[in-house]
Amino acid sequence: MKGQILNIFRKEKRVISGETLSDQLGISRVSIWKHIKKLQELGYQIAATTKGYQLIRSPDALYPWEFTDRRSTVHFFDEIPSTMDVARDLARKNCPNFTVVIAGRQTAGRGRMQRFWLSSEGGLYFTIVLRPPIPPVLSYRINYAASMVLAKTIRQLYNIDAMVKWPNDILVNGKKIAGLLSEMEAESDRITYLNVGLGINVNNDPTITEPGASSLKIILGKELSRKQLLTEYLDRYEHRIINRSLERVVAEWKTYAATLNRRVKVVTNQETSKGLAVDVDENGALVLALDDGTIKKIIYGDCFH
Ligand code: BTN
Repeated sequence: MKGQILNIFRKEKRVISGETLSDQLGISRVSIWKHIKKLQELGYQIAATTKGYQLIRSPDALYPWEFTDRRSTVHFFDEIPSTMDVARDLARKNCPNFTVVIAGRQTAGRGRMQRFWLSSEGGLYFTIVLRPPIPPVLSYRINYAASMVLAKTIRQLYNIDAMVKWPNDILVNGKKIAGLLSEMEAESDRITYLNVGLGINVNNDPTITEPGASSLKIILGKELSRKQLLTEYLDRYEHRIINRSLERVVAEWKTYAATLNRRVKVVTNQETSKGLAVDVDENGALVLALDDGTIKKIIYGDCFH
């Protein structure tokens, strides 16, 4: 109902009487007033006069009703430990493909390699539950598509040179502005769910704890709409993984890669390797030319440029 009330305000752009709203939506004027009061509490600036109501300003809100066509599959929480946990619970309870779990803040945000992901107000933290009809060994393609589409979306929306860093970080001017964590459950040759979690530094400042990181606000010098970025991203990512073949996704990812043709250090749980990053192969493995001339392929790890 709140979404419908906002739709009317946004379409009409004028004062609308309680009676008109009540007639159009088929609910009582008291109910209309209760919804308006709730919206005001949530940060929507709605002027209430004797003539009716008018939407003056919307906050940069990520409530489900802000995602018109996705309303039923978007879940928003002001603060939770991690969107990965909520998404996993929903996935195990058979939620639909492309369910999206968003948090305003996370108290136990998780990064790759068991790291903590600082998730303060102003950033974008979400996990998408996917059920791709592909064998588990090909799941890396979904991750490569996720980071590649994010780099492209950021480039197109803000006209900045977003790059991908192996395996799935997003860099601008060499600083990390987004990271991806994925979790999967599978039964023999079928993926039960593959959850893709993204943390994007939008209007938050991660530099206090992460000097090598930055945010879109710091880079562009102004606050951005998280809702616009998320809406664009979800539409483009869904379109990319549903409508187009994933066979060439690594090749496409490579066109935005900051990691190739440079010396890197890759740290895994077992070892550290140094060398020239010469390629990412068709399986998503980083191909390193080590100093002794041998070639080494690495499928996971932390990469330092
Ligand atoms: C990394 O670069 O280490 C990956 C960071 C992933 C962070 C996101 S924020 C949304 C989702 N929920 C989490 O707890 N982690 C991911």
